[in-house]
Amino acid sequence: MRIISPSEARMAKADHIKKLVASFGRSQEFRAATLRIIDDAATQGKQPFADSLRKILDANVRPDYQASGQPSLTALASQIDPATDLVDEITVSRGLNDIVLNSDTRILIDDIIEERHRSEELRRHRLPISTRLLFSGPPGCGKTLCAEVLARELNLPLYSARIDVIISSFLGETASNLRRLFEFVARRPCVLFLDEFDALARTRADAAEHNELRRVVNSLLLMIERFKGPGLVIAATNLPQFLDEALWRRFDDILSFDPPTEREITLLLSRQFANFPAHFDLATPVSKLVGMSYADIERICIDAIKKAVLKKRKSVSETEFAAALRQETRRKGLSSRRNA
Ligand SMILES: Nc1ncnc2c1ncn2[C@@H]1O[C@H](COP(=O)(O)OP(=O)(O)OP(=O)(O)O)[C@@H](O)[C@H]1O
Ligand SMILES: [Mg+2]
Repeated sequence: MRIISPSEARMAKADHIKKLVASFGRSQEFRAATLRIIDDAATQGKQPFADSLRKILDANVRPDYQASGQPSLTALASQIDPATDLVDEITVSRGLNDIVLNSDTRILIDDIIEERHRSEELRRHRLPISTRLLFSGPPGCGKTLCAEVLARELNLPLYSARIDVIISSFLGETASNLRRLFEFVARRPCVLFLDEFDALARTRADAAEHNELRRVVNSLLLMIERFKGPGLVIAATNLPQFLDEALWRRFDDILSFDPPTEREITLLLSRQFANFPAHFDLATPVSKLVGMSYADIERICIDAIKKAVLKKRKSVSETEFAAALRQETRRKGLSSRRNA
C-alpha cells in the first residue's frame, strides 16, 4: 500500500471540501463528495467520525435510487445488475469472414480462439489462457471490429467500458465504479472492450495530473493485471507511443492492426464486391489505395456501389470506382487541412 504524505493528505482534504461546496444543490454529487470524505476518514483510522458522518449522510441524503418513489432507469438497471451503467452492450454480428487481417495478427487471433475452444485441455495441464489483449494501430484498421469478431467467434456478449462515466468528476466514486466493473466481468463471461486506452495511460504519465486520478488509473491497471477471466479484456489504442513498458507488460498478447498492404487491399476489395460485382480487374486500383485505412477503402467501395445502383446498373464500372476514389481523396484532403 502506498503511504500518503501529510501534505498530500491535506491537499486531498482541501479538494474534497471544495467539491462538497461546489456540489451545493445537487444531492447525488453532494453524496459522492461526502462519501469520499468518509472513506478518507476511515483510511486515516478516524472510524467513529466516519461512522457518524455516514449515519448523518444516510439520514439526510438518499442515494439516487431511493431519492423518490420512482427510481431512475439507470439506478434501476444498476440494481438489477450493478454495472450496467458503466458499460454499453455492442451488438455483435460480424465474424472471422468479415475481417481482413495481416498474417501475424491472424495467427494470434486463431490461437486465441483455439485456446478458448480447448481450454479444458490447457487447464488440465495447468496452463493459463490469454485473458488480456492489447490492440494497437491507426484509426479504421479493425481494432473495434476485431473485438466484435472475437466476441462472435467465442459466443460471448461484447461490452464497451464507458471510461468517461467510470472515471467521473466524482473521484470519490471512481474506485467503487472500477470495482463494480471488474466484479461484473468476473461474474459473467464476456468481452470487455476498453477503447482509447492511451488516454488513460497518458493520464498516468502526466505528472501534473491529480494524484488521486493517477492512483485510480494505477488501480485500473492492477485490475487488468489480475484479471483471470472467464471472459476477455481487450484494450485498444491508436497511439501506442504513449504507452510505457509497464503498461505493455500487463497484457498476454499485443496485436497490431496496420493499414492494409497490397495483399490485404486485394482481399478487402474482393469481399466488398462479393455481393455486388465489379466490372473491372480489381488489381487495377490496388496501388492507388496503399496508405489508406480499411475503413477508407470500404467507404470508396460502398460509394462506388451506390453510384452504380442509382444508375440502375448490375455491376460497378471502373469509372464509378475512380469517381468514388476521387471523392475520398478530396474528403481526406479537406479533413487533413482542417486538422493541420
Ligand atoms: N481489418 C479490417 N477488415 C475489414 N474491414 C475493416 C477492417 N478494419 C476496418 N474495417 C471496416 O472499417 C470499420 C471501422 O473500423 P474499426 O472501427 O474497427 O476501426 P478502429 O481500428 O477501431 O478505429 P479507431 O481507432 O478509430 O477506433 C469497420 O467497422 C469495418 O467495416
Ligand atoms: Mg475503434
